[in-house]
Amino acid sequence: MNQYNFSMQIFSTKSSATHLNHIVMNYFTHAMIHYALLLFIIFRLCTCLDTISIKTNPIRDTDNTVLVSSGKTFALGFFGKPNYRYVGIWYHTIPGQTVVWVANRDNPITDSSGFLSIDTTNGNLVLYHNSNINQTDDVVWSANASSSACSPASDCVAQLLDSGNLVLLHNINKQVIWQSFDHPTNTMLPNMKLGIDRRTGLKRFLTSWKSEDDPGIGNYSYSIDPSGSPHLILYKGQIRWWRSGPWNGMMWNGVPASATDFNASFVNDNNEISQMWDVLDSSIFSRIVVNESGMVQLFIWYEGAERRWNELWSAPTDRCDKYGHCSAFGLCDTSTPTQFECTCLPGYEPRSPTEWYMRDANHGCVRKPGSLICRKGEGFVKLANVKVPDTSRVEVISSGLSLKACEKECLRNCNCTAYARANISEKGSGCILWHGNLIDTRKLTAGDGQDLYVRVNEHDLSKYTKKSKRLLATILIVSVVSVLFSIIFFAYWFLKRKRKGQHNFFLNDNITSGESSEERNLAKSKRHLDLPFFDLRTLITATDNFSVINKLGQGGFGSVYKGQLVSGQEIAVKRLSKYSGQGMQEFKNEVTVIAKLQHRNLVGLLGCCIHKDEKMLIYEYLPNKSLDYFIFDARTGSNLDWTKRFEIVIGIARGILYLHQDSRLKIIHRDLKASNVLLDSTMNPKISDFGMARMFNDDQIQARTKRVVGTYGYMSPEYAMQGLYSTKSDVFSFGVLLLEIITGRKNTDYINGSPFPNLIGHMWELWKEGRVLDIVDPTLCQPFSAQDEVSKCIHIGLLCVQEGATDRPTMSEVISMLTNDTTLPPPNTPAFIFQQQTSHDANSSTSRSGEAVSLNSVTITILEAR
Ligand SMILES: *[C@@H]1O[C@H](CO)[C@@H](O)[C@H](O)[C@H]1NC(C)=O
Repeated sequence: MNQYNFSMQIFSTKSSATHLNHIVMNYFTHAMIHYALLLFIIFRLCTCLDTISIKTNPIRDTDNTVLVSSGKTFALGFFGKPNYRYVGIWYHTIPGQTVVWVANRDNPITDSSGFLSIDTTNGNLVLYHNSNINQTDDVVWSANASSSACSPASDCVAQLLDSGNLVLLHNINKQVIWQSFDHPTNTMLPNMKLGIDRRTGLKRFLTSWKSEDDPGIGNYSYSIDPSGSPHLILYKGQIRWWRSGPWNGMMWNGVPASATDFNASFVNDNNEISQMWDVLDSSIFSRIVVNESGMVQLFIWYEGAERRWNELWSAPTDRCDKYGHCSAFGLCDTSTPTQFECTCLPGYEPRSPTEWYMRDANHGCVRKPGSLICRKGEGFVKLANVKVPDTSRVEVISSGLSLKACEKECLRNCNCTAYARANISEKGSGCILWHGNLIDTRKLTAGDGQDLYVRVNEHDLSKYTKKSKRLLATILIVSVVSVLFSIIFFAYWFLKRKRKGQHNFFLNDNITSGESSEERNLAKSKRHLDLPFFDLRTLITATDNFSVINKLGQGGFGSVYKGQLVSGQEIAVKRLSKYSGQGMQEFKNEVTVIAKLQHRNLVGLLGCCIHKDEKMLIYEYLPNKSLDYFIFDARTGSNLDWTKRFEIVIGIARGILYLHQDSRLKIIHRDLKASNVLLDSTMNPKISDFGMARMFNDDQIQARTKRVVGTYGYMSPEYAMQGLYSTKSDVFSFGVLLLEIITGRKNTDYINGSPFPNLIGHMWELWKEGRVLDIVDPTLCQPFSAQDEVSKCIHIGLLCVQEGATDRPTMSEVISMLTNDTTLPPPNTPAFIFQQQTSHDANSSTSRSGEAVSLNSVTITILEAR
């Protein structure tokens, strides 16, 4: 208020000095009012308190006052819709109010009469509202601190700390009487504890909000289960929804949340059982949230050109994450997408084989009948790299037992079904023994799992060990033979080379295994590979040890980091995830494909790095991120006018044309989409991500694959349904991309009121009615002349997404249509029908167009690439 008066004073002296000229004065008056308001706002931002005491004014909803922590990280105040007001804590500097804690989450104030203050009688922190009926101040929420701790009331203050913790403190002895960290809502902040205080019985756990704008206690909760070997559990109501494996001394078994960037700690003693975590670089904001749809998410805030929360990890993500998906004694494994993810553990078989065959694992597995597993020569089969079964009813022996001793211990008890090491960080520190059911076991690809030893009878034991012996023998023979062959081959090659006097370095491809015809094609074409290899240390220095700050994004195959070489050159490093089974194949593929390509519309590969498990690709760094950030966001999209968009379309088309016919090879990209188009500093598009690209012979037209990989919404029907791909499947993806660029909508988005499930269907409907421009942002059609070009592009887009692959134009035809004035043929029905397998929209459109495609008879295997 003082500041406001002060500004008004300046204003009055100024205005009295300018009464010579009314117009000038008028102008000044306006300017000064703005100035005063500005000062007022600045003043308000700078002098925010971080404490409430009986001496300060309450935090009132009507005043818009907030508490701001001393380091300006967090703010506390009122938020919510007009008749649903809550007191909460959010990040002070992050736009968009990310709320991390709510006081009266189930008890909103229905008007703006709320205020938060210290109770003058007992020093408690209390939220009041003013009842209109009898004009009294009623308690809405209270910290419920013990009444004796704060008397007199002036002894206690509430302070918002920079950690996001709201504490009620004894002013003199600084003892914490109450803190919001003890009563979390849906968010876990660094240095906050999750777990149980065994002395006081306090349980700290997260609960989801009811919905995006209702912070009330929702359906999901996330807590540490202290029984057996403690683990984290996400509940849906009372039902277990997802769980982590037990704490294995280093991390939660089965939670690969990049342990290198975080400092996780776990305590389990007489006083408490708790878990805390912290980002190594504490200047980075991070949080763990249980969201309304039942996902645990880990976010990091990026202070880059584009400021946003980035999700580093989340769970549950796939079918195998669903608790007990394969029931008792089942093992879940998603690494072979065409197969049923459930199998039985060694020594077990499906209880109901028919249902199992129908891919229903609800009845689980049982031990094979007649298996003798009690002192009849039984033993254990090792399952490597798994999330171990539910540990809530296990026996934990923590006194330093070796693995061998664990086995003995398990054998001693005929009910013991499996064992594992309790702590993988040091040798011989105890075991976990399972008795009875083994539930929720899943296979992990590498690194983040641990070994589980499952009890089997003598017969199975010999079968498994024999199998491995036989395997060993096979490997031995194969390697001897192949060594011999390579010696012969090299001798031959060396002689031949000597004769011809050539100096080529050949890379012998054994890439793209599993697709035999291509393999042969590829094997036939031996090509040069002169790509620089980068040293791992160089990349560690360049990316500051792959720090989270430098992380640009995360894809299906790993993370991308920004880096700077000693020379000053900026690079983007794609670090292939160790957890991705597809890694090596895609890696070799990408290296061989892209190393040969050079075009201004393709992202340039600078080199690669292979070091033990680490596989990395080094690209030129493009500052403007990918196209999806621009076109699907109304804010950033406004930077792209029609001329720019048209240039981008042409650029992408040229890039694809180069892949299809102008380079020395014929390449099908197979995963064209907005997020795979990067933009350089002049917004010139560059196609990236060749992890799924395939090479064709000159005369080859199409190929078939069993493993359909691609992205929902961009895949042509013949590829998604039959695994057939050709240059025309890329043309289809280009058509989708083109329509997306023009409309700023994703193909997979449903458009309100449309009878079709996706953008293509909707555009087709508009096209038939002659009003395609309805869906285009009117600003794009400025100047008016652009309108023709926009409709022409939509026409071309529709030609590209036609159902029949042969109807679609080639890329060179597309470019000629884009750049010349030609009359275009009318498009046939596009392929939009198969887009959604089960939704009633898809079915109704099927019957509409009279297509007799049975959606359920086709298995679409779709791996989301990103
Ligand atoms: C919850 O998190 C998942 C995974 O990140 C996300 O797909 C989903 O949209 C989120 N739900 C809500 C309601 O925010």
